[in-house]
Amino acid sequence: MQIINQLDSLRIYISELRIIKRRIALVPTMGALHAGHLALVEAAKAQADAVIVSIFVNPAQFGPNEDLESYPRTMERDCDVLRACGVDMLWAPDASTMYPQGFATQVHVAGPSTGYCGGSRPGHFDGVALVVAKLFHQIEPDVALFGEKDFQQLAVIRRMARDLDFNLNIIGVPIVRDADGLALSSRNAYLTPAERQSALALPRALIGASQAIRDGEAVGESTARAMSDIKAAGFSDVDYFTLADAVTLEAMTGYDGRPARLLAAAKIGKTRLIDNIAL
Ligand code: PAJ
Repeated sequence: MQIINQLDSLRIYISELRIIKRRIALVPTMGALHAGHLALVEAAKAQADAVIVSIFVNPAQFGPNEDLESYPRTMERDCDVLRACGVDMLWAPDASTMYPQGFATQVHVAGPSTGYCGGSRPGHFDGVALVVAKLFHQIEPDVALFGEKDFQQLAVIRRMARDLDFNLNIIGVPIVRDADGLALSSRNAYLTPAERQSALALPRALIGASQAIRDGEAVGESTARAMSDIKAAGFSDVDYFTLADAVTLEAMTGYDGRPARLLAAAKIGKTRLIDNIAL
């Protein structure tokens, strides 16, 4: 596996790769890799002749009071894991390469970035859209893979790719969970053992509410009960717990059978967890 951190080397690598490999897949990450990331890599291998993973802890998507400094960084281990997975190249630029002195450009995707995490993390999806747009330009992949774990992020990226005419296929990969049901996340590393146990209330509430809604219970009633269950389990704050249209992410007050997703975010101790489930 080649590791590249300079733009000029990246350009040479990509132009040479294009000659010998037909389809290139990109898996963007912020590192601290776990089995959720590796599911994206495996799906990428099935889609393309060459797989590129990027690791970049993107300052533009962290708010001023968020965990940019403390975000887990495990570069050596990540390299070993990606090598063992048969990844062709790791793109690991530093912040001054991605955001050179005087950087002044923004990417704002309205629509699906409104509300949910976009409401509680102002500017977050602008930062995500910006860095993903840059990665798409730098690598020009044929296919890019994102996890359904970050369902709103996936919707924002799909919208941006269509709006800005990126010529690539975007693939959403199902959520990978621990055996007990908690969605894998780099931020789970912040949880104490007791919080880790209480955190199971989040996926349980999603499963319970999705079954109740499918069985005909009013959406508002199911989500209200789910929120109080989550709080009773030890979460300090439920940011949102909402049924949304799976494409536009518009909130749905009733379930009418079209593809929908229950989206949730809640805080336990200092850690904010997100999760979702299809209806
Ligand atoms: P990061 O949190 O490292 O996640 C990288 C990719 O892995 C995302 O597409 C995310 O949805 C996916 N992922 C994380 N946990 C997962 C799980 N349990 N199951 C399935 N997929 C999972 O998301 C980001 O980084 C950044 O915002 C990024 C897109 C790289 C832009 O900076």
